[in-house]
Amino acid sequence: MATTTTTITEKLASTTLDSADLSKCNYKNLEPYVHPPETKEKLNWAELVTLDLEDYDREGGKERLAKQLEHAVQHVGFFYVKNYGLSQEEVDNQFTLAKHFFKLPVEEKEKFECNYAAADYNGWRRSGRRVENNKAGYKGFDNVEIYNIPKFTKDFEGKYGQPDLLQAHLPEIEHFSKTLHKNVVLPLLRLFAIILELPDEDYLVKQHTYDKKSEDHFRYMIYKKRTAEEWAASGGGLGNGHTDLGTVTLLFRQPIAGLQILGDDGNWTWVSAQPGTITVNLADTISHLTGGWLKSSVHRVVTPPEDQWAYDRTGLLYFARPHNETVLNPLDSPVLRRAGAKSRFEKPVTVEEWVKAKQTLQLNPDIAAKRWAEAGDGTVEVLAGFRDRKYKE
Ligand SMILES: [Fe+2]
Repeated sequence: MATTTTTITEKLASTTLDSADLSKCNYKNLEPYVHPPETKEKLNWAELVTLDLEDYDREGGKERLAKQLEHAVQHVGFFYVKNYGLSQEEVDNQFTLAKHFFKLPVEEKEKFECNYAAADYNGWRRSGRRVENNKAGYKGFDNVEIYNIPKFTKDFEGKYGQPDLLQAHLPEIEHFSKTLHKNVVLPLLRLFAIILELPDEDYLVKQHTYDKKSEDHFRYMIYKKRTAEEWAASGGGLGNGHTDLGTVTLLFRQPIAGLQILGDDGNWTWVSAQPGTITVNLADTISHLTGGWLKSSVHRVVTPPEDQWAYDRTGLLYFARPHNETVLNPLDSPVLRRAGAKSRFEKPVTVEEWVKAKQTLQLNPDIAAKRWAEAGDGTVEVLAGFRDRKYKE
């Protein structure tokens, strides 16, 4: 039933399901995803606060949570949330879909491949596009596959096809994404507004409403297991420190250790997988909206401990971003005024321009290599005078 062409119409036609296709995608026909065991190695774990979102609607809850978060959002950029209104079964089902999506044949996945040249990250990103170098000069390629699903709004309706596996479960994926937005992203934005003493507690929420056009997306991701030689050739991810480009990133529990964050003290620590939580990190646009006062945290994914080398690392993430039209100047906040926060750009920059500039670098390794080489000082101009840089290994 599927075609091998890539036009949108044909992609959509290829996702029309008959009843036989539907049943093959039922969970009873899909081997459930099971998390790999945790490492037994003693690692230098980061100490992160956990927000209990159940407290949010209680009397004084928002203020308590804002207080709890204040230090983390300025100095750490990472924290956990729990009680976010999705059951463990719903979370497990999404991991099962991720597992089976990545097991599809390449010929099936490539029907939904990203349009890299257009900096459009929705769809499937194949592994091996990014060259990784280690210090000894060995060259390896990344082993990461990604599948991004945009917001379920009229702006994206009919724009991207889905493989049968996901088409059959699209209403659940929609519910899952929207619940994360409503139960996690929006409450966090109110807590940020309280911390920033914004007169309107909903100011940031109004820049992040679900129905208006923005580049939020839901992601399945896999770091495929590697041999010792492949790990050596890759440089172990030590040089991959980066910040995320949006408002916040939500990351579901993943027991394969690999995620590290760069602390204010210049040291890397490991992020552990706390049961029942989502790991949240602050990213660039919220940092831009506060002139850098809120911390877009630097992180990387490195070689897991050896006792986990036999496993793939499957990820489930949600990326929140402001509306495309939002201008990334510092908000009118008493806290930011006291701190003397200034715009990080030489001219007004919208989220849409920011996303396009960052994604052009992220999706096109050739362009990125050339642009990083231009300055020759370990930095690259993303746009309007704002520079990204390489972080400490
Ligand atoms: Fe990241």
